[in-house]
Amino acid sequence: MKVTLSVIKADIGGFVGHSESHPDILARAAEHLAKAKKEGLFIDCRVAKCGDDLQLIMTHQRGEDDEKIHKFAWDVFVDCTELAKSLKLHGAGQDMLADAFSGNVRGMGPGVAEMEFEERGAETVIIFMADKTSAGAWNMPLYKMFADPFNTIGLVIAANMHSGFVFEVHDVKKSRKITFNAPEEIYDLLVFIGAPSRYMVKAVYHRITGEIAASSSTQKLSLIAGRYVGKDDPVCIVRSQGDFPAVGEVLEPFTLPILVEGWMRGSHHGPFMPVAVEDSTPTRFDGPPRVVALGFQLSAGKLVGPRDMFADKSFDPARQQANEVAEYMRRHGPFEPHRLPLEEMEYTTMPEVSKKLEGRFVDLE
Ligand code: 13P
Ligand code: 13P
Ligand code: MG
Ligand code: MG
Repeated sequence: MKVTLSVIKADIGGFVGHSESHPDILARAAEHLAKAKKEGLFIDCRVAKCGDDLQLIMTHQRGEDDEKIHKFAWDVFVDCTELAKSLKLHGAGQDMLADAFSGNVRGMGPGVAEMEFEERGAETVIIFMADKTSAGAWNMPLYKMFADPFNTIGLVIAANMHSGFVFEVHDVKKSRKITFNAPEEIYDLLVFIGAPSRYMVKAVYHRITGEIAASSSTQKLSLIAGRYVGKDDPVCIVRSQGDFPAVGEVLEPFTLPILVEGWMRGSHHGPFMPVAVEDSTPTRFDGPPRVVALGFQLSAGKLVGPRDMFADKSFDPARQQANEVAEYMRRHGPFEPHRLPLEEMEYTTMPEVSKKLEGRFVDLE
């Protein structure tokens, strides 16, 4: 049977500051989901959170970009924003950048990752959710999962993966896209995805079957709003096992806490720390950035799970290393490369300060 998996997320208010989601908000979202499920809008659903971001996970048969599904998610975020306002949570309605819903949440603030596929005999999926970072944070992990044999041994020794994967890359500044075949074109691919603030892996497909393997949210809040309103805090869906990397190969990239952009005021580079859901509470300097992974088996669209994949002890060394890197980066204070490069600072609150000082510059002789 054909199933669509939709993950739609928004930061509608933080508790306390930007560090966590309030339990009443999660409960309210769960009530909405339960009601809509009863009414038959979708097959199954879960509410999830990563730090101050609220995720709605839904399975249905309505395809991607479905107006009813998107409108439902928007309405849940609107109602939860009202609750966040009544609790005076921090940044209530932060990601709700449009005044009213029109057709689709894309471009309106919330992030979306969706995929439609024929459910396999055993359908393993991992949903990654991040806080205090930007869309683009998935570039290196997705590259490692689907193109790096030092990460994914299946690319070498599994006949059904040996032909490689196709990467769909979006240029979010120019609103255009390009596809690359791995492994032949990995050097070309890396030219672009090595610059994750602009080029983002939107989707990955199996080379032979054309089956969707991964799908990520690539919306950039600062480009939508034209100013800093918080970080994108993206989500990503990855199918696993069979023709796709095994669960352990999908999780392996996160054993290295790579530097991603985000953290305090969305203006810094910091280590991407894999954590259990209960530890997705970015507090030190509003971070460091977090990633959680929820694992599911799908059964006729039913979400069997989740398992909290990074709760595993084997990620303790990555967390330890992330804390050490965090300490090292913090010692740079307001200096690059802890602070983002100037070009990226254009999308923070810095332009207002530089404008104020503009008149004090005098030309050099
Ligand atoms: P099992 O024998 O436990 O199913 O594991 C097979 C496998 O491929 C693990 O990556
Ligand atoms: P969020 O994007 O998670 O709301 O964080 C914003 C911020 O400025 C943290 O310092
Ligand atoms: Mg926030
Ligand atoms: Mg957030």
